[in-house]
Amino acid sequence: MAVPFLIPFGGEGRFRAAVAREYRGAMVSLLHLDSSADLLSSRSRAIGHSFSEAWLAAAPGNSVVHRDLHRDPLPHLADSELHWPPRLRREGATVPVEAEALQTSLIAELLAADVLLVGAPLYNYSLPSSLKAWIDNIHVPGVTAPFDVDSQPLAGRPAVIVTSRGASYDPGSPTDGWDHEIPALRLILGTALGMDVTVIETNLTLAETVPALADQIPRSRDELAAAHEAATALATRLGTPAS
Ligand SMILES: Cc1cc2nc3c(=O)[nH]c(=O)nc-3n(C[C@H](O)[C@H](O)[C@H](O)COP(=O)(O)O)c2cc1C
Repeated sequence: MAVPFLIPFGGEGRFRAAVAREYRGAMVSLLHLDSSADLLSSRSRAIGHSFSEAWLAAAPGNSVVHRDLHRDPLPHLADSELHWPPRLRREGATVPVEAEALQTSLIAELLAADVLLVGAPLYNYSLPSSLKAWIDNIHVPGVTAPFDVDSQPLAGRPAVIVTSRGASYDPGSPTDGWDHEIPALRLILGTALGMDVTVIETNLTLAETVPALADQIPRSRDELAAAHEAATALATRLGTPAS
């Protein structure tokens, strides 16, 4: 049973986004996250930029909020109680006021977005810690995900993950299943938050710099070009008002 009245975080932002959709007949606001620590040649940053540019070009009113989780890192979650809304915290629990205010603003920022774009390089078979800190803040059972109430305020909204991986993790290959980033993001954004997840991937990025992978350069470059194309096409589709 959905109980929208009980959602304590970001209700206003969600309402604003819903009103905007109703009046404009289009998706308008993109929240674009970057988390790559590579400020010179990051593929996830470049592909995300293609998406953002196509989004802005798709309709005059489209907007982008860009949050760079590497350049402007969030603190680690200050207290485990912040994983829960106040009504589900242990009796007597207190949380740092500033940390709670930050969490509230991050959730409001997410709820105000019609589409989420996540730049997600693969680090140590997992998420960059900068992106994980954001996830730890916005995944709050009973608020952004179902728990004691069926709260899924982001259900059905598009989440586009742009992942960039140094090696490859092809089905049936010896490294199949070693990527623990995309399954975790699908679980949290898709299953828990109910978002409509699309993954755009580019692999073997290390082929350009590691001699042992040099024979993979054609595949690496083909995938990069295909990822830019896919990002541009998807942003144009999502950002173009329905006629
Ligand atoms: C800290 C760190 C850890 C990494 N761990 C992995 C890994 O586990 N598997 C992998 O395939 N590549 C790994 N790489 C390589 C990156 O996935 C690769 O450079 C990718 O292109 C990064 O995304 P970006 O181009 O958007 O920066 C790692 C790179 C860094 C900096």
